[in-house]
Amino acid sequence: MNRFTKVFQGTAFTSNSPQEVNVLHDCLFCINDKGEIAKVLHPEDAAYNEVIHDYENTNAFHRLEEGMYFLPGFVDLHIHAPQWIQSGTALDIPLNDWLNTYTFPTEAKFADANFARIVYEDVVETLLANGTTTALYFATIHKEASIVLADICAKKGQRGLVGKVVMDDPEQTPSFYRDSDTKTALAETEEFILAVKEIGKQAKQGVYPVVTPRFIPSCTDEALRGLGELAAKYDTHIQSHCSESDWAHGYVRERFGKNDAQALDDFGLLQEKTVMAHSNFLTDEDAELFAETGSAIAHCPISNAYFANSVLPVARFMSMGIDIGLGSDISGGFSPSLYDNTRQAVISSRMLEDGVDTSLSAEQRGVPNSRITINEAFYLATAGGGESLSLPVGRLQEGFAWDVQVIDTRTANARLPLYDANESKMDIFEKIIYLTRPENIREVWVQGELVHTRSS
Ligand code: GUN
Ligand code: FE
Repeated sequence: MNRFTKVFQGTAFTSNSPQEVNVLHDCLFCINDKGEIAKVLHPEDAAYNEVIHDYENTNAFHRLEEGMYFLPGFVDLHIHAPQWIQSGTALDIPLNDWLNTYTFPTEAKFADANFARIVYEDVVETLLANGTTTALYFATIHKEASIVLADICAKKGQRGLVGKVVMDDPEQTPSFYRDSDTKTALAETEEFILAVKEIGKQAKQGVYPVVTPRFIPSCTDEALRGLGELAAKYDTHIQSHCSESDWAHGYVRERFGKNDAQALDDFGLLQEKTVMAHSNFLTDEDAELFAETGSAIAHCPISNAYFANSVLPVARFMSMGIDIGLGSDISGGFSPSLYDNTRQAVISSRMLEDGVDTSLSAEQRGVPNSRITINEAFYLATAGGGESLSLPVGRLQEGFAWDVQVIDTRTANARLPLYDANESKMDIFEKIIYLTRPENIREVWVQGELVHTRSS
């Protein structure tokens, strides 16, 4: 009688801490019927050979080939699923113009749930193919199409956390893309929460509803208050955009005489399961409020280069104890890949540290102690994302979900430059993070189920 539903053998990389990556050499990962890692066995453990003996001739046994490695699946903490159709375009104007000129007309198309289904299937498949096993999605204001996205995540095996977006303030939203009124916005959010909770019951990996005020400028006080109450009533996650750009930050200060963080907290929107995109302009006081309430930041470094007028001081906020993960912010960020965002997180932090204006002296140019390492960026894309969502994902250790990507360093036409048989595993890890392309991602598993394969 075998105790495990699946057993995987291979070398894996997983974060021990933000600074330290753990190399699990040729381990056995024993998965239970819930898709969780029940046991990690090292070659020196007594049971190691016994488990190999019991499983290796069964269908439950999966041994990695030479040159392949396990990584935890990535957690995308901020993505707008409907904006996929404009990814790679519309990056030429500031945030508020971008929303009105491109993004609101784009999202309005998702009134058509059939169109939404076509796009959302593509988005979920694309993310899985890029190694993203958990995603925190903004859908649109449309209840029906938002439910379609949750349903697609459930069926394709991705751990989706999905929000029907609320935008009810006529001052800041166009008539063609606005909730019909505040009462309806709140009632539809409640119906959406109940519908997605039902969908989630059928999904082994979990699919969750998320209370989603777009950002303060789109919402009336009444909507913000009502959404805080709904999140408390149903114990849901909450997501929004916070202090993203000079304009967005200034708008909130003008309306409330305080910063986003304080205003969001007043409406009951900062709590343990809150994830706020960007948050670039948080003051130290705002940052302390995030740390105290357990609210997380979705750092979106590619998007920030276009729309945030700044670089997030991610090292400083990590040192203050704030949960932080990475977001693609499709389509403010053009790439669906968290690999690309991991790389940009490191690059942006280096530019923040050194500064960029050569008319200043080296001492005046940058912000000291701002750089993050590739290990820290990997932590953000995996364990940090899991912690931000309060879910047991993003680490390959006992009690966590078997959410993994199998990386093939030898894929034809996408081989990684590995020429030294004795190269250290940490060098291999760095090459994987910097150089992996979708071609190298051979398999993706979520909650113990195979959800994506790619032949070489
Ligand atoms: N602020 C409000 N809506 C959005 C959006 O769709 N993308 C980004 N980057 N910022 C926003
Ligand atoms: Fe966004």
